[in-house]
Amino acid sequence: MKNLIDKLYQEQTLEKDEFIYLLEHFDKETSEYLFSLARSLSGKYFGNEVYTRGLIEFTNYCKNDCYYCGIRKSNRNVDRYRLTKEEILSCCETGHELGFRTFVLQGGEDGAFTDEVVVDIVKSIREGYPDCAITLSFGEKTYDQYLKYYEAGANRYLLRHETADDAHYRALHPDSLSLENRKECLRNLKKIGYQVGTGFMVGSPYQTTECLAEDLLFIKELSPQMVGIGPFIPHKDTPFGNFPAGSMDLTLFLIGILRLMIPNGLLPSTTALGTIDPKGREAGILAGANVLMPNLSPIGVRKKYELYDNKICTGEEAAECNVCLRNRVASVGYEIVEKRGDFIGFEE
Ligand code: 5AD
Ligand code: FES
Repeated sequence: MKNLIDKLYQEQTLEKDEFIYLLEHFDKETSEYLFSLARSLSGKYFGNEVYTRGLIEFTNYCKNDCYYCGIRKSNRNVDRYRLTKEEILSCCETGHELGFRTFVLQGGEDGAFTDEVVVDIVKSIREGYPDCAITLSFGEKTYDQYLKYYEAGANRYLLRHETADDAHYRALHPDSLSLENRKECLRNLKKIGYQVGTGFMVGSPYQTTECLAEDLLFIKELSPQMVGIGPFIPHKDTPFGNFPAGSMDLTLFLIGILRLMIPNGLLPSTTALGTIDPKGREAGILAGANVLMPNLSPIGVRKKYELYDNKICTGEEAAECNVCLRNRVASVGYEIVEKRGDFIGFEE
């Protein structure tokens, strides 16, 4: 076990069967060993600094019907909303005052946000907040569309591949979506010059250890600047509503593995991790994560962007998130900083 972790530390990757062995046999002791190496690497590149990204969930309309997702088109129980450009800019204003230097515009695949509308919004944020990074995350677009947003001033794009196994991809999505197209989008984003984030859910229905090993090998090959992973959490109004949630220990172990694979990478400790365990986000940082993505959406819409059940920070307590997060991060010996937090060595 330890020798495999040492090999991963030295070579930043493993063979598929070695990943499978690790994922099937890890225990508390090996996890702690992995996490200590992971923390030595995050410490080397980032010290005790944790970056934050202000997440603006600007639309919960979506034309897709992913079986796991609470805002899938077939879910009639969702109260759909779209933020106006003014509302989005006002989120940025609040966020900037709170110290955020990255804004993430995340949403469903919503045709109402035409390229013209997106470009206009991105340009306005770029003009209003020249010291901030703009991250986009609203699914699959063509090369030309991604290029337009980039030229308007966007810097980064988040698009989780969800699973790198073809059969598993089929089990999670309707036929209108394909792993091939997903990968093509990721390659296009990299080609254009975005800092790219991908990722997957841990413990999604029908996932095997082999799927996870394929995820890790795909990530190695893509070489993204960011990787977001979190446990699958069932949403009651989806076809997967009765499946169990993913495991916290496995998610943390995978964060540790990803830190060893991409020592200077940007790895969020996700809201989903904080949802399955009250100390999940702190544990993520101690496993090697160095990014938090708190919600900047107007309090009134937060409950409506429920990708999974019991999502945290969507109620009355949400106004306190900033203080709460600062304290949580400090409690494990880290510090939230007011920086863009770009990928080290990234040339735009
Ligand atoms: N549980 C956990 N994560 C989910 N996502 C979507 N639905 C769920 C769920 N039920 C994740 C997907 C998507 C990201 C925005 O949220 O990986 O890419
Ligand atoms: Fe939202 Fe703690 S971060 S309440």
